[in-house]
Amino acid sequence: MSKQLHAQWSSKMTFVLAAAGSAVGLGNIWRFSYMVGDSGGAAFVLIYLACVALVGLPILVAEWLIGRRGQKNPINAMADLARKNGKSQAWALVGVSGVLAAFLILSFYSVIGGWSLSYTLSSVTGAFSGQDADGIGALFNGLLGSPIILTLWHTAFMALVVFIVARGVTKGLEGAVRTMMPALVILMLVLVGYGMTTGHFVEALAFMFRPDWSAVTGGVVLAAMGQAFFTLSLGMGIMMAYGSYLGEEVNLISTARTVIILDTVIALLAGLAIFPIVFANGMSPGEGPGLIFVSLPVAFGNMTGGTILGLMFFLLLTFAALTSAISLLEPVVELVEERTPLSRIAATLLGGVAVWALGIAALMSFNVWDGVLIFGMNIFDLLDTFTSKVLLPLTGLGAILFAAWCLERSGVSDELNLVGGKERLWQLVARYVAPIGVIVVFVTGLL
Ligand code: PHE
Ligand code: NA
Repeated sequence: MSKQLHAQWSSKMTFVLAAAGSAVGLGNIWRFSYMVGDSGGAAFVLIYLACVALVGLPILVAEWLIGRRGQKNPINAMADLARKNGKSQAWALVGVSGVLAAFLILSFYSVIGGWSLSYTLSSVTGAFSGQDADGIGALFNGLLGSPIILTLWHTAFMALVVFIVARGVTKGLEGAVRTMMPALVILMLVLVGYGMTTGHFVEALAFMFRPDWSAVTGGVVLAAMGQAFFTLSLGMGIMMAYGSYLGEEVNLISTARTVIILDTVIALLAGLAIFPIVFANGMSPGEGPGLIFVSLPVAFGNMTGGTILGLMFFLLLTFAALTSAISLLEPVVELVEERTPLSRIAATLLGGVAVWALGIAALMSFNVWDGVLIFGMNIFDLLDTFTSKVLLPLTGLGAILFAAWCLERSGVSDELNLVGGKERLWQLVARYVAPIGVIVVFVTGLL
C-alpha cells in the first residue's frame, strides 16, 4: 500500500516538475518584462492575468486531458480520439500546427538563450562591475551589433539543447528543476528587495498595477493573450505530449493551478525586480527585447555581492531557458523520428540544425538585416508575432474546442472529478468562455 502511494506521488511530482520546467523560462523574465514595458504597463498585466485564468487554465487542462486520453503524440492522439468519437480527421491539424509553432519559437528562443549564456560569462569576468546604465547599454549594443558573436552564443545554446535531447536524458533534469525553481524565486525576491532601495519601487508598482485603460487597444489585448499562451507553453501540443505520460490519479485541475501560480509569480516578481531599476536609471520601459539585459546588470554592477548574484541569476535564467527549449525541440524530433527512418540522434541533429539555421536569420534582425521588414516587422519580431499571436491561439482554440465538444461529456467530467455545479462551470468555461474569448481577442487584435 505505502509502496503504491509512493509510486503515485513520484509520478505526479515528476510530471509537475516537467510541466513547470517547460513553463518557467525566458517567457517569464525576458519576454514578460519587455512585453509589459512595450504595451504600457498595468492594463497589459491585468489583461494578461485574466487571460491566464480564463483561457490559460482551461486550455492547459484540455491539453493534458487530450494527451492522457489519447496516449500518443499530439498529432496521432488527436486523430485517434477524433476517429473514436466519430469526428473528422482534420482535428489532427491542430497537432501539426503545434509542432510548426514549436519549431518557429525555438529558433528565436535559442538566440535569447544565447544572450543569457553570454551574460553568464560576462558576470564571471566582472564586466558589469561599477558600470552605469550607459556602460551596460554599450555592452549590450556591442553584443547585438556582432552577427558572429551572436551566432556563436546561439550555436552554443542550441548545441546544449540538441545534446540533451539526443541523449534522451530529459528525465534526469527533474532533480535539477526541483532545486532551480526555489532558487530562482529566492533570487528574484532578493532583486525585488534591491528594487525597493532604488527609491523607484512605488513608481514601478504603479506602472505594473495601476491601469490606464484609455491606452488599451485590440493589439494590446492580443499581445497579452499571446503572452499567456507563450508563458504556459500552450498551443504547441507540448503539454498534450506530457499528458500522455500522466497517471489517472493526477488531478488535472489542481495540478494546472499549481503550475500556473508558479509561472505567474515568477513573471510578476521579474517585473517588480526590473522596473524599479529601469525607472531609477532613466531608461525607457519600452526598450524592447533587450530590456532585462540593459537593466538588471546595472543592479548587479553596483550592489554588494552583485557579481555572484549576477552570475547566479544568469545561470538560473539559462537553465530555465534550457528546460523550456528542450520541451520545444522534443515534439519536432518525435515527428521526424516517427515519419522518417532516422534514428533518434539523427532526427535530433536534423531538427536542431533546421531550427539553428532559422535562428541565424532571426539574430541578423539585430544587425545586418535590421532593415529587412516583412509586414513592417523584422524577422525576429515576425517569428515571435506570428507564433504567439496567430499559431498558439489557434492551436489552443482547437484543443479546447475538441476537449469540450468532441469528447464524450460524461467521460470528461469523470476524468476531471467534476459533479454538479462545478461540472456545469467547467462546461460553461470550456465550451463558451475560453473559446469565445480567444476568438474575440484574436479577431479584434488583428483588425
Ligand atoms: N513557456 C516557456 C517560457 O515561458 C517558453 C515555451 C513556450 C516553452 C512554448 C515551451 C513551449 O519561457
Ligand atoms: Na513561462
